[in-house]
Amino acid sequence: MKLHIYKTKQEIADHVAKYLQKLAADRKLLHIALSGGSTPKILFQELAHHYVDKIDWAGIHIYWVDERCVPPSDNESNYKMTADFLLSHVKIPGGNIFRMHGEAPPAKEAKRYGALLRQKLPQVDGNPQFDLVLLGLGDDGHTASIFPESKTLWNAPENCVVAVHPISGQERISLTGRVINNAREVAFLVTGAVKAEIVREVVRREDNFASYPASLVAPISGVLHWFLDKEAASGLT
Ligand code: 6PG
Repeated sequence: MKLHIYKTKQEIADHVAKYLQKLAADRKLLHIALSGGSTPKILFQELAHHYVDKIDWAGIHIYWVDERCVPPSDNESNYKMTADFLLSHVKIPGGNIFRMHGEAPPAKEAKRYGALLRQKLPQVDGNPQFDLVLLGLGDDGHTASIFPESKTLWNAPENCVVAVHPISGQERISLTGRVINNAREVAFLVTGAVKAEIVREVVRREDNFASYPASLVAPISGVLHWFLDKEAASGLT
């Protein structure tokens, strides 16, 4: 595990953008799975402002870690957030964007997306392999849309499952552990003091860590990055 701790959100965005740029330069074709939530937004803004010409966007294929079951025009849609803050600003061919269809019947969509991953991604050890999976961390210990209340979904035999947000009841489509842990690299992007406790528990494997889906993130490749701002990392020092 590699911990990267930065002073500000802007510094994290700078460094993660550079990390992405390097991955893209090293590999002609990059399959990335993006998360929703507020934290990736800062990265997307940085990429949209400063990396329009610094990354060969034609070599990047974008997928999602999870999606809320809403239409792509809904403000809750992870696709919409990514489109608004990143995709509409860079020259990425439409054919490189593989969104989860939040508007479709969830079980059907989980099946379709799971099959799409089998078809489009290299299969390594029997599972699809992303070059990079970018994760967020919920303050309840969830990651992707695998929540503590339904943690067993992490080990589902499928590539994608339907999950339910424990409080709002909103349905979501989510990648499962078999896909996330099969990625060549996995990176958590976490900011803010509200995340300090959960970061400490998950990273240090203390207290209730075993009940959090985020503690199950353990890429077979061994390449796990934690990009944190100093508030989120404040429990580690
Ligand atoms: C989503 C997610 C989710 C997110 C965490 C952290 O669609 O909500 O992909 O897993 O990454 O909830 O979200 P924040 O960055 O907003 O804290």
